[in-house]
Formats: sequence, C-alpha cells, structure tokens
Amino acid sequence: MADQGLFSSDLVSPSVASALPENYTLRALSQSDYDIGFLDCLRVLTTVGEISKAQFNERYQWMTGHDGYYVLVIEEVRDGKPTIVGTGALIVERKFIHSLGLVGHIEDIAVAKDQQGKKLGLRLIQALDFIAEKVGCYKTILDCSEANEGFYVKCGFRRAGLEMAHYY
Ligand code: ACO
Repeated sequence: MADQGLFSSDLVSPSVASALPENYTLRALSQSDYDIGFLDCLRVLTTVGEISKAQFNERYQWMTGHDGYYVLVIEEVRDGKPTIVGTGALIVERKFIHSLGLVGHIEDIAVAKDQQGKKLGLRLIQALDFIAEKVGCYKTILDCSEANEGFYVKCGFRRAGLEMAHYY
C-alpha cells in the first residue's frame, strides 16, 4: 500500500498550502521522501550524518507509532522531477501542568539554499502553527540563533526566556 504520510492530511492547512507558489506542495513527510532529497534539505540546517534508507525507515516507523510527531515537507516539481525543498517539525509535549496541557515545540526548520527568500520558511511555520492549534497546544516554543530571530519575529513569535543546554 502507498505510504499515506506521517500524519493525516486533515492537519495540513489548506490556506497555507494554497499560498505556496505554483508547483510547490505542502504535505506530511512520507517514507519515499528519503529518495527525493529530504536529508539534503536538512543539511542546510546542520550535520545530518550518513543515514541509510533502512535507518531512515526505522526512525520513520517509530514516529508513526508515537503520537505527537508532525514532520512537514514542501516539495517542488521542476521539469517533472520532485525534490524536497523545505521541512519543519512540530513535536507535541504532554504535560501534567496547565490541566494536562499540550506544548508544541518547533524544530528543524530548513529551506534549501537556492529556495530561501520565497516565503517557504514562513509557510512552514504557519503550517506548523495550524497543526499545534488544531491538536490543542496552548503555546508553541522554539530555540533559534540570534541570526534567525528576525525571521521568527516575522512569523509572529516573540523572545521569551533563555535557552540553556547540557550536551552529552
Ligand atoms: N533574519 C531576519 N529576517 C529574516 C531572516 C533572518 N535570518 N530570514 C528570513 N527573514 C525574513 C524575510 O526577509 C521575510 O521577510 P518579509 O516578509 O519582510 O519579506 C520573512 O522573514 C519570511 O522569510 P522566508 O522567505 O519565509 O524565509 P526562508 O524561506 O528563507 O526561510 C529560514 C528562513 C528557515 C531561516 C531559512 O533561511 C533556512 O533554512 N536557514 C538555514 C537553516 C536554519 O537556520 N533554520 C532555522 C533553525 S531554528 C529552528 O529550527 C527552530
């Protein structure tokens, strides 16, 4: 059976999808995106490592079995060839506080170098915000570098708190 994607298409904002330029599609990550540049798109963001198809599939399958993992992609079809040109993730944290509140975490936003500046990043954030609201998050938070603060401000976020890290 064809892969239907990591999550339901009901969670893909129709208005954000229709705001994309022609030949661009917004959808849930699918297993076959390994073959059309999903990991290369992420390499714009950071080190990805050499991940085999089997390893990718294993992680993908794990995500399908765990609630709260929403990885979106933007696919461009050029000269009949599909390529992943943007991606972003929402991870939903389930809390005890705030009456069992749900908090969205935006992670791993990446737009291919030659596709930046076309509002694809903005559309990804709007689409992740749509999912967060629809699944019942009371807020969404993210960490970013100072260099990207302006981008997130344009997406409607504001500086709140201070990030700390402990690497292992
Ligand atoms: N600083 C200030 N403003 C910015 C920046 C920036 N770094 N990047 C974009 N903008 C502005 C744009 O000028 C535009 O403004 P406008 O509406 O006035 O025209 C608006 O933000 C929307 O920009 P987009 O065209 O949607 O941005 P783009 O598609 O290029 O995506 C992104 C931005 C995701 C930061 C992209 O440059 C990228 O992939 N960078 C490398 C990876 C990265 O740093 N990802 C973010 C990591 S943080 C995280 O994942 C939570």
